Amino acid sequence: MKIKGLLFDLDGVIVTTEHNHFVAWKRTADELGVPFTERENELLKGISRIDSLKMILNLGNVFISDSEFDALLKSKNEFYLDSIQSLNQSDLLPGVFDLLIKAKFQGIKLGVGSSSKNANFILGLLGISDFFDVVIDGNGVSDPKPHPEVFLNGASFFGLAPTECIVFEDAASGIQAAKAGGFFDIGVGNPEVKELATKYYNDLTEFRLEDYG
Ligand code: BG6
Ligand code: MG
Repeated sequence: MKIKGLLFDLDGVIVTTEHNHFVAWKRTADELGVPFTERENELLKGISRIDSLKMILNLGNVFISDSEFDALLKSKNEFYLDSIQSLNQSDLLPGVFDLLIKAKFQGIKLGVGSSSKNANFILGLLGISDFFDVVIDGNGVSDPKPHPEVFLNGASFFGLAPTECIVFEDAASGIQAAKAGGFFDIGVGNPEVKELATKYYNDLTEFRLEDYG
């Protein structure tokens, strides 16, 4: 298979921020009195901010007003952004930087496909924005993961067929999105997606571009 494009999820694939999301959602769940552990958090990975809060409310069978809903979204994001203030290149996950350099050198198209509305801000903190031909984030899609829109928009920007692109994902919702779009899906950095993904690597140091060229 000749791969011409790589589409990366952000949180948990490029950078360690998935843990910061967990801590921030845990704080929100605690406020609502909803039991919330890493196990429940697995359901939230990859999905949008709004859908995440809806999921927590569902888990606890809690009902709140629209204004409380908006206030919780706002405070979760403020807490989260505060926790990633000092994010920098050392927070890149293993293998990411080398892969970006190698792929760029080979003329492979590079993109980010993330549910996060903070994606461009985070890429800026990491100093890697210039690597990417396109960044599709939570501000630019109407149907979030597990819908494939985010990745389909990326492939279409590249001018490539989904079958010519790899999607790297750490979340079940993201692997589902990649499969639904007809991409080659690779799970990375989260053993929970090992069974679901077509291929799985513990981190991107294990991924060899030449195996897909
Ligand atoms: C995804 C994360 O990338 O983005 C989720 O996996 C997160 O945990 C979602 O909730 C939305 O992110 P943000 O930054 O817009 O709140
Ligand atoms: Mg992720």
